[in-house]
Amino acid sequence: MADTEGMKDSHNYHLDTPQENEVFTLKGCNSLDWGMKNRLSNIFDAQSDRTVMLAVDHGYFMGPTTGLERIDIRINPLLGYADTLMCTRGVLRSMTPPSYTRGIVLRASGGPSILKEMSNEHIAVNMEDALRVNASAVAVQVFIGGEYETQSVNNMTRLVDAGNRYGMPVLSVTAVGRDMVRDAKYMRLATRMCAELGCAYVKTYYVDDFETVTASCPVPIVIAGGKKLPELDALTMAHNAIQQGASGVDMGRNIFQSDAPAAMIQAVRKVVHEDMPPKEAFELYETLKNAAG
Ligand code: R5P
Repeated sequence: MADTEGMKDSHNYHLDTPQENEVFTLKGCNSLDWGMKNRLSNIFDAQSDRTVMLAVDHGYFMGPTTGLERIDIRINPLLGYADTLMCTRGVLRSMTPPSYTRGIVLRASGGPSILKEMSNEHIAVNMEDALRVNASAVAVQVFIGGEYETQSVNNMTRLVDAGNRYGMPVLSVTAVGRDMVRDAKYMRLATRMCAELGCAYVKTYYVDDFETVTASCPVPIVIAGGKKLPELDALTMAHNAIQQGASGVDMGRNIFQSDAPAAMIQAVRKVVHEDMPPKEAFELYETLKNAAG
């Protein structure tokens, strides 16, 4: 029998205080469902609405890229500095500690290696498996203007439909073919198409006139780092992208191929979340690098 004796019987319904309705401030995402917003909150910092994604998924088409030969040695020590880890399910299950509780963006397309036609990708992860590993989003490559453009767009829209059923955001990764011009006109086309077709956010490359790309894309844009640059140049690129409307970076080689990856990711965080100017961030990188010895 329930023990009701001495039970406190005074209620406070706060009748003069309206219930709070928190606005979800991430660009273009306020009308998404709760689960989708909750997952995006594992990726984007609630204060800055920005993210530092650590991209280590290169092996899915490039094999053991320089810096990723041993994920356990080179990447796992960086996990505490990233808002999100972008990886494949193979790396996640074999080398990522299950005690890692921040966001995971799961690579969900694949097929061809660097030896073949890159745009001939298919969906490579079932939505059920993405849920099983507690992914916060799935990532799909989209090859606008590529040989298999329609197939890659279809991969994305099928993942968006599956993601909408389960509250799983889709990150569209705009891949630029070797023979294509990597400029703002192309990026506006590619990012806008991805957003119109339903992805939650888009990854693209930083280009001149980048503010026109972010302005015309109704959902958040993060930039890939691309090939390894000198640290100051990479920090400058990240700074310029953020100041021109990017919602973060999805950076790989410019972090894990740096002489001091932990120092570099901490400097990138300052640029992304605190608008630190690149020269100051580079000084921080040098200080942290020297302190680590
Ligand atoms: C490339 O397709 C992969 O998805 C990488 O995640 C992406 O390119 C970001 O890595 P990086 O900064 O090395 O370009």
